[in-house]
Amino acid sequence: MVSGGRLKGRVALITGAAQGIGKAIAVKMAMEGASLALLDIDERVMELADQLESEAIPVCAFKVDVSEEESVEDAVKRIVERFKRLDVVVNNAGTVRPAALEEVTDDDWEVVIRVNLKGPFLCVKHAVPFMKEQHYGKIVNIGSRAALGKLDRTVYSTTKAGIIGLTRTLALELAPHNINVNNVAPGPIATELFSAANPPGSPKTKAIIKSVPLGRMGQPEDVANVVAFLASDEASFVTGQTIFVCGGLSIGGVYF
Ligand SMILES: NC(=O)c1ccc[n+]([C@@H]2O[C@H](COP(=O)([O-])OP(=O)(O)OC[C@H]3O[C@@H](n4cnc5c(N)ncnc54)[C@H](O)[C@@H]3O)[C@@H](O)[C@H]2O)c1
Repeated sequence: MVSGGRLKGRVALITGAAQGIGKAIAVKMAMEGASLALLDIDERVMELADQLESEAIPVCAFKVDVSEEESVEDAVKRIVERFKRLDVVVNNAGTVRPAALEEVTDDDWEVVIRVNLKGPFLCVKHAVPFMKEQHYGKIVNIGSRAALGKLDRTVYSTTKAGIIGLTRTLALELAPHNINVNNVAPGPIATELFSAANPPGSPKTKAIIKSVPLGRMGQPEDVANVVAFLASDEASFVTGQTIFVCGGLSIGGVYF
C-alpha cells in the first residue's frame, strides 16, 4: 500500500472501522499516509488492523462500544500514549432500527441515541483536550441524508439531525483552537447496514436507486474520499458544514 499524501504524519481515530464505510475510510486514510487507531464493538476490527499492519501501516485497534465513556476515555489515552498525538477523529460508528413511529420500542430509542449521538459526543469529549494541546484537530462526523426526512427512520433521522447541531456548535466552540468540525451526510451506500434494511434487488431498493439523481448506489469509497479531504489541510477553511454525499438525493424528490 502507498504511504504518503495529504495525511502524512497525522494520527486518525476512526470509529466503526470493522466494515462498510468505516473500513473504507481507514484504508483511504492509510493510503494518504495517516497512522490509524481503529475502534469497533466488532472483534473483526482486530483482523483489519492485522491486515493493515502486515502492509506496514502504523495501526492500533480497540474493541470498544463508543457509547461507554470509560472504554472510550481509556482507548483515547492509549492511542495518544502509542502515537504521541491525535489529529483526526472520524465519528462513523452508527446503527439503525427501521420502524414506523408506533412500532419504535424504548430499546430502539435508547440504542440508536446511544450509538449515534452519545458515541460521537464521548469520542470528541475525550479527544479534544489532546487536540487543544496541539492547537490542531479535524473532527469529521458521519451523519446521513436521512436527517432531511426518511420513512421508517424516526429515531435514526432524529440522531442524524442532531449530528448537524453538534457539528455546528462544536465548530464554533473549537475554532479558536484550530480544530475543524464537519459532517459528511451519505445517501444510500452499498454496505451491510444498508442492505440489511434494503435487500439488494428488492422493489424498495430499486425504487431508492431510481430516486437518486445520479442513478446509482454510492460506494463506501465515495464517502471515504470526502472524509479524507475534510480531514486534510486542503479543507482548513471549512468548518461547521454538512456535505451530502448522496448522488443528489438531498436536492429533493421522494425520500424512501
Ligand atoms: N450505508 C448507508 O447507506 C448509510 C447512509 C447514510 C449514513 N450512513 C452512516 O454511515 C456510518 C457507517 O455506516 P455503514 O453503512 O458502514 O454501517 P455498517 O453497519 O456496515 O458499519 C457500522 C460499524 O459500526 C460498528 N458499531 C456499531 N455500533 C457500535 C458501537 N456501539 N461501538 C462501536 N462500533 C459500533 C459496527 O460494528 C460496524 O462495524 C453510520 O454512521 C451510518 O449511520 C450509512
